[in-house]
Amino acid sequence: MDYVIGGGLAAFIIYAAKKWNKTEKEKIQHTFQNIGYVVKDKEPKLFKTHKSTTHTLYTYHVPYGLVDDPKLEVLEKVLNKPVKVSFANGKLHIKVYHSKLNNNYSYDSFESKGKWIVPIGKTYDGSVYHDFDDIPHMIVAGSTTWGKTVFLRMLMTHLIENNPNGVEFYILDLKGRLAFNRYRNLKQVKAIAGDYKESANALKKVKKSIDKDMDYLRSIDAENAKEANIPTRKFIIIDEAGELKPDKSMSDEDKEYTKKCQQILNHIARVAGQIGYKMIYGTQYPTKEILDPQIKANALARVSFRLATSVQSGVAVDQPGAEKLECKGRAIYKTVDDYIVQTPFISKKEIWERIGRYENDPSSKEDQKTRKNTVHFG
Ligand SMILES: Nc1ncnc2c1ncn2[C@@H]1O[C@H](COP(=O)(O)OP(=O)(O)OP(=O)(O)O)[C@@H](O)[C@H]1O
Ligand SMILES: [Mg+2]
Repeated sequence: MDYVIGGGLAAFIIYAAKKWNKTEKEKIQHTFQNIGYVVKDKEPKLFKTHKSTTHTLYTYHVPYGLVDDPKLEVLEKVLNKPVKVSFANGKLHIKVYHSKLNNNYSYDSFESKGKWIVPIGKTYDGSVYHDFDDIPHMIVAGSTTWGKTVFLRMLMTHLIENNPNGVEFYILDLKGRLAFNRYRNLKQVKAIAGDYKESANALKKVKKSIDKDMDYLRSIDAENAKEANIPTRKFIIIDEAGELKPDKSMSDEDKEYTKKCQQILNHIARVAGQIGYKMIYGTQYPTKEILDPQIKANALARVSFRLATSVQSGVAVDQPGAEKLECKGRAIYKTVDDYIVQTPFISKKEIWERIGRYENDPSSKEDQKTRKNTVHFG
C-alpha cells in the first residue's frame, strides 16, 4: 500500500489556516464584541467596503450612542496595520492601510510646489506640504534627538532653493550656535545669535523692520504682504526656545534680554504673520511656561516629534499621541486636521550641495549690497 506522506497534513493546514486566519472584516467584528463596542446586544453592521491602492475603507452603521471611541485604537494592534478611525455623517469609518510608513524618505522624493510651500512629510495617503503664506507661524516640538534640527534645516534649504533672492532668516541658535553656525555665511541669513544678548539684538532688528514695513503698508493702504506685493518673506527660527525662559541662575542682565526676546516674539506672533514674517518656534520642552499663550494661539501649525509624555503632547499639538511616535523623523503635523508623517531626511552633505553656492558669494552686486547690512553677532 502506498502512502502519500503529507497529503492529509497539507489539507489540514489549509483547513486550519482558513479557520484561524480570519479576514480583516471578521477580526474587526470580533474586536467590536470583545472590547464592548456595542449597545446591549446590538453591534455595528458593515455597510460598505471600499478598496484603494493604499487602503481599505470599512464603513459601518452603528447603534445610536456609539461614536468614534478611543477603545477602537486597539484595531491597529489587532490587524498589525495602520488604522484611522473616524465618525462622520452618522457612520463609523475604519480605514486600514495596506502598509506601514518607511523610517526614512529622502528629501529629493518630495516635489517643489511653490515659493512658500514646504514639504512636511509622507503620510499613508501621500505627501503633505505646508504653505507659510496661509499659516505663517509654526511650533516644532520634540524631545532630544528625534528630528527637530534636521527638519528646520530641511525647511531652510527648501525655502532658499525656491527663493534665493526673496527669503531672509534670523536664527536664534540657542544651544551655543552649534546647529546653524555654518549658515551664517549664507547670503539669505541676516542674523544668527547664540546667546541672550545676541538674540535680543537680532530680534530688535526684526522689530525695527516690522515697524518700517507697517508704515509702508499703511502708506499704500494695504493690509498684508500679498496685497502690497512685497516679494520678501522673513523667517525667524528659534532652535530651543526653552533657553529663553528666565531662570534663577541667570544674571539680571540676561534676564532682561530674555524678557525682551519674549516680548518681541509675542509681537511677531500677534501682528507680523500677515505682513511677511514667519516664526518657527522649536522646543524640546513644550510646557505652559515655555509655550507662551500668545505664541501658541497664533502658531496654528504644529509639528511634534516624539515627546516624553502625553501631557507634553497635549501642550504641543492639543492631543495625545506624540509620546507614542516610534522612530526618528516621525511626527504629528497639525493644522485644522492632523496627520502622522515621516518628515523628509536630508543630510548635511546634500544641503550644502544644494545651497552651498550662496555661501560668501561675492560675485553678485545685489549680494554685496545686502551683506553690508547683514549683522552677525558674536
Ligand atoms: N526625517 C528623518 N528621517 C530619518 N532620520 C532622521 C530624521 N530626522 C532626524 N533623523 C535622525 O535623528 C538624528 C537626530 O536628529 P536631530 O539632530 O534633528 O534631533 P533634535 O531633535 O534636533 O535633537 P536635539 O533636541 O538634541 O537638538 C539625526 O542625526 C538623524 O540620524
Ligand atoms: Mg537639535
